[in-house]
Amino acid sequence: MINLQIPHATTVSALRARIKSWREDGLTVGFVPTMGSLHDGHLSLVRLAKAQSDRVVASIFVNPAQFAEGEDFDTYPRDMLSDAEKLATAQCDLIYLPEREAMYPGGFASKIEMTGPALGLESESRPHFFSGVATVVAKLFNQVRPDVAVFGEKDYQQLLVIRQLVRDLDFPIDIIAGETGRDRDGLALSSRNAYLSEADRKRAAALPKILKALADALSAGGDVQTALATARDTAEAAFDGVDYITVRKAADLAETEPGPLRETGRILAAIRLGDTRLIDNLAALPFKGPNPG
Ligand code: PAJ
Repeated sequence: MINLQIPHATTVSALRARIKSWREDGLTVGFVPTMGSLHDGHLSLVRLAKAQSDRVVASIFVNPAQFAEGEDFDTYPRDMLSDAEKLATAQCDLIYLPEREAMYPGGFASKIEMTGPALGLESESRPHFFSGVATVVAKLFNQVRPDVAVFGEKDYQQLLVIRQLVRDLDFPIDIIAGETGRDRDGLALSSRNAYLSEADRKRAAALPKILKALADALSAGGDVQTALATARDTAEAAFDGVDYITVRKAADLAETEPGPLRETGRILAAIRLGDTRLIDNLAALPFKGPNPG
């Protein structure tokens, strides 16, 4: 048994026993699923969950099902002691640390396939990804049975996929979105930023700036395709690869119509610096038009 300075459970039965005692006291439960290597973005979700519920469970599980062969499952940063300290500071009440065997015991044979918001974007480079996420999140939801669960806008497509999953499979859980936590230079906090060399970390700061310039061009009435072409050129010059940079409808990630943006959009991008792949996104507000007054 590891000695963490905060209550923790490693099995479903221990998790449920703890939650049952809260339920008997009439307390509500919030849930924040993570893969650990926690930063302030994750902790802001824990605080949001705490503001919405009496008790908060955070899970830490590096989910093998959402990594493909050759991706970074083995090297994904893991630091349980530091994570536990951070969660204690953020007023988390219980850490759930399932063993791989508890999540995927021998003979495990189920898989949730998602379409709708899961199509395209991240799925182009990572076709297995949302199936792995949906399956593990559905399991975690059934294990924790929270009233609310908090997900970050940082992974905007994932957030929409989870909302879709909850709607389609009737999970009685409110999904709450937390804003993206950023470093001083605007780079979105990510466990994967730890992979960047010092030089690449500096170059990465161009990503939020490119998204912001694109959002400004769109809210000023710029044509979507023209503004996107400029952003794509800038990104291609700044990074080692651009998987995508696009503007979609914020509600469902559907393609936007040609011309100026007519409804609230979402700018989404995935870029590469060396071997590291970074994603980010930003709201894009439509052009209001000249004031007729
Ligand atoms: P992970 O990347 O650890 O992220 C856990 C949660 O933190 C997700 O909801 C993610 O959107 C959010 N998050 C990440 N960076 C953030 C930032 N800078 N600001 C605010 N929130 C941020 O996403 C996953 O793990 C996994 O796919 C998971 C849902 C746990 C399923 O395995």
